[in-house]
Amino acid sequence: MDRILIKGGRPLHGEIPIRGAKNAALPLMTAGLLTDERLVLSNVPLLADLHTMGELLAQHGVAMEPGDGGRTLSIGGRITNTLAPYDIVRKMRASILVLGPLLARCREAKVSLPGGCAIGARPVDLHLKGLEQMGAEIRLEGGYVHAAVPQGLRGADIVFPFVSVGATENLLMAATLAQGRSVLANAAREPEITDLADCLVAMGARIEGIGTDQLVVEGVASLHGAAHPIVPDRIETGTYACAAGIAGGAVTLLGARLDHMAALAVALAEAGVEVSETAGGLLVRRLNGLHGTDMKTEPYPGFPTDMQAQFMSLMSVAEGAAMITETIFENRFMHAPELNRMGARINVHGSSAIVRGVRALQGAPVMATDLRASVSLVLAGLAAQGETIVNRVYHLDRGYESVERKLGACGAEIERI
Ligand code: UD1
Repeated sequence: MDRILIKGGRPLHGEIPIRGAKNAALPLMTAGLLTDERLVLSNVPLLADLHTMGELLAQHGVAMEPGDGGRTLSIGGRITNTLAPYDIVRKMRASILVLGPLLARCREAKVSLPGGCAIGARPVDLHLKGLEQMGAEIRLEGGYVHAAVPQGLRGADIVFPFVSVGATENLLMAATLAQGRSVLANAAREPEITDLADCLVAMGARIEGIGTDQLVVEGVASLHGAAHPIVPDRIETGTYACAAGIAGGAVTLLGARLDHMAALAVALAEAGVEVSETAGGLLVRRLNGLHGTDMKTEPYPGFPTDMQAQFMSLMSVAEGAAMITETIFENRFMHAPELNRMGARINVHGSSAIVRGVRALQGAPVMATDLRASVSLVLAGLAAQGETIVNRVYHLDRGYESVERKLGACGAEIERI
């Protein structure tokens, strides 16, 4: 099994290209189920999760053709099968996003329940309740969601009791082909949702309120093909910004957008890491020392939960203390004990962690059980004295394209073994 070996202590200098966002690409791919015509996505990241989604689409009869060395994906074909089997869904929770489009197109679907994952229970009740409000009959049996809507979906007023990215995406896609008008209130407004909505509009959907927490959708009879560039990955951007912060130096993140990471940029500035716009992207520089900075995760535009682990690594070598509070997922501090094995001083109490900065971390063999936790250990390795070996690299490959090549090109001593 692949591992990543890092010899820490080298500052980063250079350029890192930022690709399209994984969390935008996955729902966009499922939007390909909403039409028989071709949906052509560009700025596609080369990630294991997209491969898994391709397998799932193929299972439904919809083919995915890569072009331009994998940088474009052309998705199209008639849906021949509405079953999303456990063997594929269990690999990736975002598979549940086929449910809304399948119901809208085929009036029935059988989709495996994704189940829990390393970072928490992560139920899909909001997805199912919303579809029921749109007229679907839903039964859970044998670990599967059996959904049917013989008369077709109809528009509904849906108020989310709390913000869910996935539920907003699933119901937004379903609403585009429902009869009549849907209102999604307290909707998530992550840039990936705006990206999906923009693509749906390009496919002929009628959506108002894009970018706000209230989406109004006027259903249409059918959608057509379109071409859509995937929004740059704000989490990949933030991860490499933290890399420059923890290792020191100055890195240009090509194609990155500051407006999608405002809360993170504020926290980084307080911590002593400057992020500024340049012609082609963002320049990230560590100014002098790092300072302990408190942070709390929140739905967008707040500080993203997907950046919490990386920020914790940064804080582990800052001067002073930082209180980090996780409000989105109940079990998202698995990186803390691993960082402590590298010499960090982190105490977790419920949903908060106190990070007391240490002068230096020490390299160690480490592993993590989710994507962002894994990359936080790579960042810690960049700053640690000696060798760090990060195990279970397949987590990294789900969401980061050639992390070792991108960091290596900026002077890090890092290799895949
Ligand atoms: C998406 C992202 C993930 C990110 C998360 C929060 C993708 C593919 N994944 O995940 O990287 O960490 O947003 O920004 O885009 N919940 C329920 N019932 C539901 C749905 C969600 O209780 O029906 C809970 C979840 O357990 C969690 C919270 O709501 O505690 C937010 O989850 P949600 O925004 O839905 O996350 P995902 O869409 O799964």
